[in-house]
This record gives sequence, C-alpha cells and structure tokens, in this order.
Amino acid sequence: MHSDVKQVLFTEEQIKARVRELGAQITNDYKGKNILLCGILKGAVTFFTDLARCIDGPVEFDFMVCSSYGASTTSSGFVKIRKDLDSDVRGRDILIVEDIIDTGVTLSKLKPLLLERGAASVKIATLLSKPSRRKVDIPVDYNGFEIPDAFVVGYGLDYNSRYRNLPYIGVLKEEVYSH
Ligand code: XMP
Ligand code: MG
Repeated sequence: MHSDVKQVLFTEEQIKARVRELGAQITNDYKGKNILLCGILKGAVTFFTDLARCIDGPVEFDFMVCSSYGASTTSSGFVKIRKDLDSDVRGRDILIVEDIIDTGVTLSKLKPLLLERGAASVKIATLLSKPSRRKVDIPVDYNGFEIPDAFVVGYGLDYNSRYRNLPYIGVLKEEVYSH
C-alpha cells in the first residue's frame, strides 16, 4: 500500500468483479442499441476502459473534460466544459461514465445539456457515489460502490494529479492535503 494511503476501500479484485457486474447489466439493458460511452476525463479513464471491455455489444467512445475542483478537495459548485464531446449526440443513446458522484452538481448540469442537444437517452454510470454529500438529486443508473464522505484516490482518482495509477481505491491520509 502507498504510504500516503490510510486505508484501502476496494481492492483491484473487488473493483474488477463489480465492473464485470455493471458491464453485464449494461449489456442486457442496451440490447440492440449502439451506446455512445461518454467518459469524463481524467478521473473516469480507468473505469471507462475496464467497463467498456465488459460490455458485449456495439459501443463508441467519446470524452469530455469538465472542471470544478482544481487543487481543492471540495466542489466549487460551478461546472466548466473545458473539452466538449466530438460527436453529434442527436438521436444517440448516451452513457456518461464518471469516476465519482459527490455533490451531483457536475452531472446535474451535463445530463440536461446532452438531452437539450437531442440525445435519445442519457444514463449515468459511476464507479463511486457519496450519497451523504449530495446537493442535487441526480438519478444514478449504474453505481459501482457507495462510499462514506472521505477523500479517495486511485483507479483514476487523483489528489493534485497524483495517485491515479494506484490499482485500488484508498482513503488519503488527512495530513497529505491539510498543509
Ligand atoms: P460533483 O460534486 O459535481 O463532483 O458530483 C464530481 C467530481 O468531484 C471530484 N471528486 C473527487 N475526486 N476523490 C477524487 O479524486 C474524491 O474523493 C472526490 N470527490 C469528488 C471528481 O473529480 C468528480 O468528477
Ligand atoms: Mg472527475
């Protein structure tokens, strides 16, 4: 375990097993449809590539960069699109792939935007969710794990651009971000 990590919440094996379950569920729900998988960079990258390989059916990839965080560990409450999707979303069945839903602010802005642009459907897959932190009620269609209110890193998630490459999800020691 990395010395900045206090506790491992989910091991590589646990994540793999859960991602497989989500993939099977998505495969089943989207039979006969061509999914446009929209990953939110950068945090969702690891989950995105693993989940995509667990979906047995036609899938296209696209990505977006949104920001509201910077170097802080709490949401600033507004969302900026720094890189938009390349695809024309009209008539498409979109599955947004996110690393973690915290306040819900990010997705509560993105989902209506994609529907406004003419998407046929917009659903949400997230690896992690912190329900106790929700400010906006947002329906989550596929959720890997619910977690308590702690700052987590690994499997794509970062603090100050670090720890994304850890293969597990862990809670960061407070002293790492308190000074
Ligand atoms: P909202 O609040 O809009 O935020 O749901 C979602 C975004 O917040 C970031 N986030 C975290 N990132 N560890 C992280 O590395 C965390 O514990 C954490 N909590 C929220 C994340 O970027 C997500 O996309
Ligand atoms: Mg993110």
